[in-house]
Amino acid sequence: MVRRILTVASGKGGVGKTTFAINFALALSRVAPTILVDLDTGTSSIRSTLDLEVKKDLYHYFRRGAALEDCITVLDRHMDPEGLYGDFGVIAAPRHTIEEISSMGETARWRLMAALNELPASFIILDLRAGLDGHVLDFLPLSNSGILIFTPHHPAATLAAANIVRSLLFRKLRFVFAKESPLFAGHGGFQQHRLVNELLDQVEDVYVEELQNLDAFLIDLEHSLGTNPYLRPIREVIHGFGVYFVLNMFNGIEESWETAVRPFVEHLHDHVSRRLTITNLGWIVQDPAVHRANCQGHPIILDAPRQPVRRAGNPVLEELERLEASLLGLPTRDDFTPGEAAARDVFAGLDGPDPFTAQLEVLNRMYSSRGATRIRDNFAYITHRALHLARDLPAEVFGQPRLMPPSAMLRHIFQPRESTD
Ligand SMILES: Nc1ncnc2c1ncn2[C@@H]1O[C@H](COP(=O)(O)OP(=O)(O)OP(=O)(O)O)[C@@H](O)[C@H]1O
Ligand SMILES: [Mg+2]
Repeated sequence: MVRRILTVASGKGGVGKTTFAINFALALSRVAPTILVDLDTGTSSIRSTLDLEVKKDLYHYFRRGAALEDCITVLDRHMDPEGLYGDFGVIAAPRHTIEEISSMGETARWRLMAALNELPASFIILDLRAGLDGHVLDFLPLSNSGILIFTPHHPAATLAAANIVRSLLFRKLRFVFAKESPLFAGHGGFQQHRLVNELLDQVEDVYVEELQNLDAFLIDLEHSLGTNPYLRPIREVIHGFGVYFVLNMFNGIEESWETAVRPFVEHLHDHVSRRLTITNLGWIVQDPAVHRANCQGHPIILDAPRQPVRRAGNPVLEELERLEASLLGLPTRDDFTPGEAAARDVFAGLDGPDPFTAQLEVLNRMYSSRGATRIRDNFAYITHRALHLARDLPAEVFGQPRLMPPSAMLRHIFQPRESTD
């Protein structure tokens, strides 16, 4: 499996990013080495939700010259008496707010990103802070949304999550059509460059109603430019963009559908594009036990009923089988046999071209599974889906293989193009 960096973001605060990130990272670590990184460096909420004995944290990385790898904290014996989470590690934020670290500048961010890229793990989960500033955007993938969390309880959180998608996509288009972009140099024409950027300004400006979304923008551009090499990369950037989300504090299909999923998809359609691929990774029910477990520093997933994991054979498949055993009606191990997977994929088509029916279908399927109301099964389901996607999709379609500053990203976008043209 290709290494993945998966960011957890929400736009709005208090919707369960940290809760999700911790439990998800713990579940993933049962399958492959996983490191959770607290990038909400102002509040260091991971260390208050997870009872850790931290010897070194980001303070030591930034201020004391420690290697990032040496700032990994593993679970204490009392948290994991059976040693089931030996492949789980955390890089904690400093204990107290340190201005220079909580609002780190670009140089510090790029340095940290380069170090994160070298961490020895298959999965790196980044718990981001709320909001949509450079600190958050820089860590998000450019080709997909990472994992977005929102909740039916806060309609504003739904829109905030949709706005992350919008910001990411526009940001990427701005890079692609910046003056220094290889596209501009290669195909020339100051006129085109100006036209594209003026149209982008109009779409991005929500007060300009003529050009509401990127689909309208593409049509306009096609009229203005005819067949032009500009069009292909724009189309690819927009149509190739993937959106992944998890509903937290789920409270039943109807309410989740009306107050969260439908407005989310509608907002993306109206203000971004109808061509985005939107994937519902699952939900987490609202349960006081989740909050209690957080307050005790002992995340709920650690209490999962333990079944012996067979060590023989492929450990990834063994673990998938174990996860699936608790999910009635979901695929069995056979579905993970290469070649057969696509044909027998119960998820195939669920996130297809008609996102409304598809999303409702996903909710219904999840709800009709007996496990749907049990919190640990919620995490097993999400973990299962994430592993499924991680196996089937290229690393830059779900999460990202490495964090990249814009210049490297541009090189990356245009590299395959140069070799195939
Ligand atoms: N599924 C759930 N059921 C019950 N309580 C939950 C659930 N998920 C999260 N909580 C509680 O909601 C609160 C917010 O959760 P959390 O800190 O994970 O959110 P966050 O998005 O990381 O917040 P912030 O933006 O401040 O970083 C916490 O008190 C947590 O215990
Ligand atoms: Mg948090």
